[in-house]
Amino acid sequence: MSGQSTLLVTGASGQLGRRATEILLEAKAGKIIAGTRDPAKVTDLAAKGAEVRKVDFDDPALAKAFRGVDRLLLISTDALDTPGKRLVQHKAAIAAAKKAGVKHIVYTSMPKPEPGSPITFAPDHYGTEQALEQSGLGWTVLRNGWYQENLLHSLPQVLASGKWFSAAGNGKVAHVAREDAAYAAAAALAAEPKGNARYDITGPALLTTREIATLASEATGKPIEVVDVTDEQLVQGMIAAGMPAFLAPVYASFDTNTRAGNIAIAPGAVRELTGRAPRPLQQFFAANKAALLQNH
Ligand SMILES: NC(=O)c1ccc[n+]([C@@H]2O[C@H](COP(=O)([O-])OP(=O)(O)OC[C@H]3O[C@@H](n4cnc5c(N)ncnc54)[C@H](OP(=O)(O)O)[C@@H]3O)[C@@H](O)[C@H]2O)c1
Repeated sequence: MSGQSTLLVTGASGQLGRRATEILLEAKAGKIIAGTRDPAKVTDLAAKGAEVRKVDFDDPALAKAFRGVDRLLLISTDALDTPGKRLVQHKAAIAAAKKAGVKHIVYTSMPKPEPGSPITFAPDHYGTEQALEQSGLGWTVLRNGWYQENLLHSLPQVLASGKWFSAAGNGKVAHVAREDAAYAAAAALAAEPKGNARYDITGPALLTTREIATLASEATGKPIEVVDVTDEQLVQGMIAAGMPAFLAPVYASFDTNTRAGNIAIAPGAVRELTGRAPRPLQQFFAANKAALLQNH
């Protein structure tokens, strides 16, 4: 990692942003700035040597926060409540970076966000990628695959009931450790850019739902039967189980996307960017057995 540049991470109090900032500080990758809406939440990063700046993409004076920054890690926000809000926020961040003289932006996107994606929030990422291409700035797009940690939202219930209702068919996913995504983001920001680039940030193995179920069963000793359902049955089942009606189609769209093969992306970029072997799902399940069995 180079040691001269001024690097700013947005969303530094979030899970990905905090780890990426810590990794950059540990590597002494340059002058590191932690950008967050709430500086009080990152006193730990300040104690480790980060400068802290208030960064809120909704702030009209945002460009001030990016002064003197060479490269920016733009972490996508979590504002999913209002469709299109994230895109407005990300475009504002890109415009502010340009105004402030930032030379290069690393952005956390998603796999295959192009028009036609069944994923409800894909247009935010596609629009941001387009805005980067049109900005005249240098860019690195990290198309982060689904985190292994996301599985902790659904698998405890699956393990408790013994049934995994799935519309993903034989589609495959290579879930990535958030830790590996943080290392990849830190490496992409720290490296002196050699032009614009896109990377798919995925885990080491492409697995079907049944293969993931087998690994979860092996880790916990609990059986799982995968039950194939249609998208509509999945939505209705999730609503019947208590999920808000607006959220069920969002979750079902992940299965539609997997079934379409949109997320079956060959692993490789994590190692290429970081030199580290990405963490296998088996290892994640073994380390999180208690969380997987929380409903027992
Ligand atoms: N690939 C996946 O499976 C997956 C899963 C979950 C999320 N994501 C995406 O990846 C991002 C990072 O993931 P995470 O796990 O670190 O999520 P997280 O802990 O929920 O963090 C949310 C992030 O959004 C930032 N943010 C929200 N509003 C903002 C605003 N107005 N201006 C600037 N930043 C704002 C927060 O920054 P501050 O609070 O520090 O300002 C924080 O870094 C998420 O925001 C989401 O877009 C991907």
